[in-house]
Amino acid sequence: MPYSTPAPPLGVGMVGYAFMGAAHSQGWRTVGRAYDLPLTPVMAAVCGRDRSRVEAAADRLGWAAAETDWRALIARDDVSLVDICTPGDSHAEIAIAALEAGKHVLCEKPLANTVEEAEAMTAAAIAARRRGQLAMVGFNYRRVPALALARQLIAEGRLGTLRHVRASYLQDWAADPAMPLAWRLRKEKAGSGALGDLGAHIVDIAQHLSGELLVGVSAQTETFVKERPLPEGEAGQVGAVTVDDAAVFSGRLASGALASFEVSRFAAGRKNQLRVEVNGSDGSLAFDLERLNELEFHDNTLPDAEGGFRRILVTEADHPYLEGWWPPGHGLGYEHTFTHQARDLVHAIAENAQPEPTFADGLQVQRVLAAVEESAEKNAVHTPIPVPAPE
Ligand SMILES: NC(=O)c1ccc[n+]([C@@H]2O[C@H](COP(=O)([O-])OP(=O)(O)OC[C@H]3O[C@@H](n4cnc5c(N)ncnc54)[C@H](O)[C@@H]3O)[C@@H](O)[C@H]2O)c1
Repeated sequence: MPYSTPAPPLGVGMVGYAFMGAAHSQGWRTVGRAYDLPLTPVMAAVCGRDRSRVEAAADRLGWAAAETDWRALIARDDVSLVDICTPGDSHAEIAIAALEAGKHVLCEKPLANTVEEAEAMTAAAIAARRRGQLAMVGFNYRRVPALALARQLIAEGRLGTLRHVRASYLQDWAADPAMPLAWRLRKEKAGSGALGDLGAHIVDIAQHLSGELLVGVSAQTETFVKERPLPEGEAGQVGAVTVDDAAVFSGRLASGALASFEVSRFAAGRKNQLRVEVNGSDGSLAFDLERLNELEFHDNTLPDAEGGFRRILVTEADHPYLEGWWPPGHGLGYEHTFTHQARDLVHAIAENAQPEPTFADGLQVQRVLAAVEESAEKNAVHTPIPVPAPE
C-alpha cells in the first residue's frame, strides 16, 4: 500500500557540507523519489562556519536555508532530525545537544573520538529514546545491497559455523610525504588515523555480517610519515602527524571464529578498496567494494566437483534495497548507500522503531578501536574488549 500523499514532512538539518555533507545530501535528495516513504524528508537547513561558503553549499546541494552556528540549526522549528557530517571532534557536543533539544540524530562514523565521548553520546541516546527521539550511526556500508545480502545469508545459516572473517580497507592518499597535515592526520580532530577512519567501517562490517562481537584483539599500528607540511594559512613549516597511518590487527569473535583486519592510507594504487571474506563450515562469501554489485558465494555443501565461488549479481528486485532502483543488471554505486541509510532512518522515525546501527553499536566499535590502540602500544599484547552492558 502506498503511503498517504503527501506524507507528513520530516525536517532535516545537516551540519558540515563537504565530503559526507555532499554524500548525505545526495541521499536526502533522492530517497523520497526512489522509495515510497511514510514521511517526506525536507532539506530544511545546512550549517557551516563561513556564511558565503555555506550559502553556496546550500544552493549547490539543495538545502532551503543556511546557518553558521550548529546551535541555531538545532533550535530551528523546521528541523526534527540533525544529520552530523563534521570531523569527530564535534560529534559528541552536537549529538548530545541535539538529542537533549528533542531532535533525532544521524551521526557519521566513527561515533566519537574517544570511548568516554561515545559513552556520553550513548547515554544521551538511551535517554532520548525514552522521550521518543532516535539516534543512528552512519556506517553506510551496511547498506550496500551485496553486504546486506551477505548478512541475510549468514543469518539464515548458509555458511554454517563461522571460522574466519578477514577484512581490509586500503587507501593511498597519504602515501606522498608532501601531502599537507589535514585534519584527518591530527589526533585532536580525528581521534585516530586509518584505524578510526577505515578500521571503524570494517570492524562494524565484520561484526554486523557475523552477528558476533569481537572479544579481544592483538594489534600493530604505524605512522610512516611523522611530520608533514602545514596546510596553507597556518604558521610554521611542518607539524607532527599524531595518528596512525596504518593498522594491522587480529581478533577473536565470541563464537571462537578468528578475524583479521588491515587498514592503510599507504597502500599505493589502492584508492578505496574494502574487501571482506567470511568462511564457514558450509560455505564462504567474498565482497570487494570495487565491484559492489557483486557477491561471491561458495557453497561448501556441494560435491567438490561442483564447488567453487560463483558470482551473484546483486541487482534483482528482491535483493535488499533494489525495489527502489533499476531493472536487473543495471548496477548501483557508492552514493546509493546514503539513500538506503536515509530510507531506513525515515522508516524508523515514522514507526518509532530503533534504527541500526545504534549509538551503543558505535560505542562498542569505539571500544574495539581503543583496544587496538592499547594493544599496539604494548607491542601487540592480546587486549580484551569489554562486553557491552545490556540496554
Ligand atoms: N561513511 C563514510 O563512508 C565516510 C566517509 C568519509 C568520512 N566520513 C566521516 O564523516 C565525517 C566528516 O568527514 P568528511 O570527509 O565529510 O570531512 P570534510 O572535511 O570533507 O567535511 C567536514 C565538514 O565539517 C564542517 N565543520 C567542521 N567543524 C564544524 C563546526 N564546528 N560547525 C559546522 N561545520 C563544521 C566543515 O566546514 C566541512 O564542511 C567524519 O566523521 C568522517 O569520519 C564517513
